[in-house]
Amino acid sequence: MGAVGAQRAAPPHGRVAEPPADSDDRVTATPRLELDLPAVARAFRAFREALPEAEVAYAVKANPHPEVLALLAGLGASVDLASVGELDACLLAGIAPARMSWGNPVKKPADVRAAVAAGVTRFTTDATDDVDLLARLAPGAAVTVRLGVDDDGSATPFAGKFGVTPDGAAALLARARAAGLHPHGLGFHPGSQQTDPDAWRRGIAAATRAVERFGAPVAELNVGGGFPTRHGAGPVPDLTACADAIRGALAAHAAVPGVGTWRPHLVAEPGRVLVADAGVLVAEVVLVTERAGRRWVYLDVGRYQGLAETEGEMIVYRLRTPGHPPGAARGPVVLAGPTCDGDDVLYRHADVRLPLDLAPGDVVEFLGAGAYTASYASVGFNGLPPLPTVIHPAPDHAPRETG
Ligand SMILES: Cc1ncc(COP(=O)(O)O)c(C=O)c1O
Repeated sequence: MGAVGAQRAAPPHGRVAEPPADSDDRVTATPRLELDLPAVARAFRAFREALPEAEVAYAVKANPHPEVLALLAGLGASVDLASVGELDACLLAGIAPARMSWGNPVKKPADVRAAVAAGVTRFTTDATDDVDLLARLAPGAAVTVRLGVDDDGSATPFAGKFGVTPDGAAALLARARAAGLHPHGLGFHPGSQQTDPDAWRRGIAAATRAVERFGAPVAELNVGGGFPTRHGAGPVPDLTACADAIRGALAAHAAVPGVGTWRPHLVAEPGRVLVADAGVLVAEVVLVTERAGRRWVYLDVGRYQGLAETEGEMIVYRLRTPGHPPGAARGPVVLAGPTCDGDDVLYRHADVRLPLDLAPGDVVEFLGAGAYTASYASVGFNGLPPLPTVIHPAPDHAPRETG
């Protein structure tokens, strides 16, 4: 069992910079997230090998644990920030502002002020008011305009929440330039857990159209995150397939009509694929009962202790029941969380089968749970604490990885 958390100074902006449940106590109770740091390092190296031409900017939101940030920073990752809390967490992890970019197009003046004060100079935008805000508070900053792309194939699509058309992107780049900002790049995110490599091809085609409309090459292309990991039973494309799609589309679109050759600096912002497989969420069965002819299994973890991505059954985790032999007889269940909320049902429709003799006190493990879990946990719904993270190996004994 590893130790939890790390010694830290106060966050620079006086906010909570990470999920607050961590302490130096060892956590053996359930629920808990067991996170294997060497697995994060392996995933990072695999990503870099698959797409060596890209600057890899870790999407902090996937898992902002200080040990994860310190590890990835040591391995040479840049970071994609969404908030002042994430900025603080990265500053505390010793990440240089030159390796940070603010990827969230939705920001308050206070966010921009904090980022500028810390030395962040790269921002993503997708709206005229936001460009104007950046021009006012971050003059001279490098601006990347986010394109809205078709995110079919994503398990958790953005569904139009972010991004503009190629024409809109060209207009925002021009507005940024006129306002004294540097029209630095174009970007898109094909939707998280994207299982169709063609989504990156579509995004790159849209970026090329934006360059054509803008009439000049921009320095950077950000192909977002979205790289999938193995949730559920179905196959997902491997990193090589996604990298090949990116590389192929860049080559196919290198010649931009009226502009010439476009060879942008490539940035990728993986989150899930770097940390998901490093995490196992360990839970315990609280109750098993029959309701309307179905077997309901209630766990001590649910939607509000970190399993937010089960909403709409978007992400179906692989489950393991260590107390039961692999060949144990299994049957379908409805899997539910422990709170009084009717929404706190993880899976009603997904084909989830658990051992027929599963009983209160038995352990159920969620595999591939290192991403978008601990940071999603509520601070205390129904009086239940946020999900603690147990780091392996214990931080004090972990040699810091570099390179
Ligand atoms: C701007 C941005 N970049 C990167 C990511 C990471 O995506 P993923 O975890 O799918 O790799 C996200 C996730 O929401 C995002 O919003």
